[in-house]
Amino acid sequence: MKYSTNTSQHLTIGHVDAIDLAQSYGTPLYVYDVSKIRHTMRAFKAIFEKENVPYVVSYASKAFATKAIYQVAQQEGIHADIVSGGELYTALKAGFDPKHLSFNGNNKSWDELTVAVEKGVGTIIVDNFLELQILSEIAAQQNVKQDILLRISPGISAHTHEFISTGQQDSKFGFDLLTGQAKKAYDIAQKDENFNLRGLHAHIGSQIFDVTGFEKNAALLAETAQSWGWQPAVINVGGGFGIQYTSEDEPLPESEYANAIIRTLKGKAAEFDWKMPEIWIEPGRSIVGPAGQTLYTIGSRKDIPDLRHYLAVDGGMGDNIRPALYEANYSAVLANNPNAPTEEVVRVAGKYCESGDVLVWQQALPKTQPGDILSVLATGAYGYAMASNYNRNPRPAVVFVEEGKHQLVVARETYANLTALDKDYTLETTS
Ligand code: LLP
Repeated sequence: MKYSTNTSQHLTIGHVDAIDLAQSYGTPLYVYDVSKIRHTMRAFKAIFEKENVPYVVSYASKAFATKAIYQVAQQEGIHADIVSGGELYTALKAGFDPKHLSFNGNNKSWDELTVAVEKGVGTIIVDNFLELQILSEIAAQQNVKQDILLRISPGISAHTHEFISTGQQDSKFGFDLLTGQAKKAYDIAQKDENFNLRGLHAHIGSQIFDVTGFEKNAALLAETAQSWGWQPAVINVGGGFGIQYTSEDEPLPESEYANAIIRTLKGKAAEFDWKMPEIWIEPGRSIVGPAGQTLYTIGSRKDIPDLRHYLAVDGGMGDNIRPALYEANYSAVLANNPNAPTEEVVRVAGKYCESGDVLVWQQALPKTQPGDILSVLATGAYGYAMASNYNRNPRPAVVFVEEGKHQLVVARETYANLTALDKDYTLETTS
């Protein structure tokens, strides 16, 4: 693989020198190439337009939820899916049109639902019986007829890590189909005048590499509605399209997943003599994952003869928990000279006090020096979004680059930020 470089042999990201970025903004640093994000958003849209089917591409913002990304999504005319009051707040702060938001989640609170209805969130994807009840009350109080979808757990197991597989029957998400709970929810929702029930939703999992699960899911949702004698306006098949983290991952192009879903639903609409429903997809990782990378400064190393070389960097599980949590694999390049011949295989570790604090399990690299910049690739999804302050490390900054320009979109946390919410303990006790 040949990486884009400039005349100094430095890695470039969106035509910007990665070493300059590290110097200007410090490390660790999340860097996103916005043109890649736009490209993927447009590619998803183009497939539906080419096939001339009604659709909504809704960015699953849990993958990376900052004001800047909601603004890019809005510029590109795509919707966004949120899963918390915090994501809703961020989207609204970004100026995102609430009508273009959908709200997923298995335990939305009364407060979250109240604000969502008040602010005019377009679609609430109802997950369970309690939510049907409280959302109905909230909508009635506010005199709103709320558009909803029902989230179904379809009983489809996707071939992915158990913790990110959500479609199987033993899942906390959605109304169970096999035991009739979904039909019961449908009956309640249809009768409730506070709701405008528009369709069904099911998400089968994440980082999925083949189309069969998506085809099965789309077919199942259509067949389910048909079996209830109902023509839904929307079929939402969720997200989960896999991306490349290492050369071992072989994802399909977006078009294959989307085309398989479109084909299946066109077939079902014809079979059931339906008006073509809107097809909704919720890609998160595939939109932001490949567009992001994290720059780190290389520090200490530990060489255990005949066993392993550990190379430590100035970040770790606080900015990317995925290797520790899911044994996720990544690749990294030496940003000072990414195309230099490799000389050793190292394990890239972080600076956190845990043995599992690894960023890259196995990486061939040229010889490196302390102070060199390492870029871990494809960290754009579920990196910053899952970042923590473990060991009281501040969370890194986020920079967007596009066409040779760069802009800070999330400032680096400071030590002062870390104690900003702490209070002194002053209780007086007798002991
Ligand atoms: N829609 C729903 C209802 C979801 O639950 C998810 C992801 C998505 C869409 C987006 O899936 P994507 O296209 O990003 O695969 N933290 C894990 C991933 C958890 C995904 C949860 N739901 C990770 O780092 O791999």
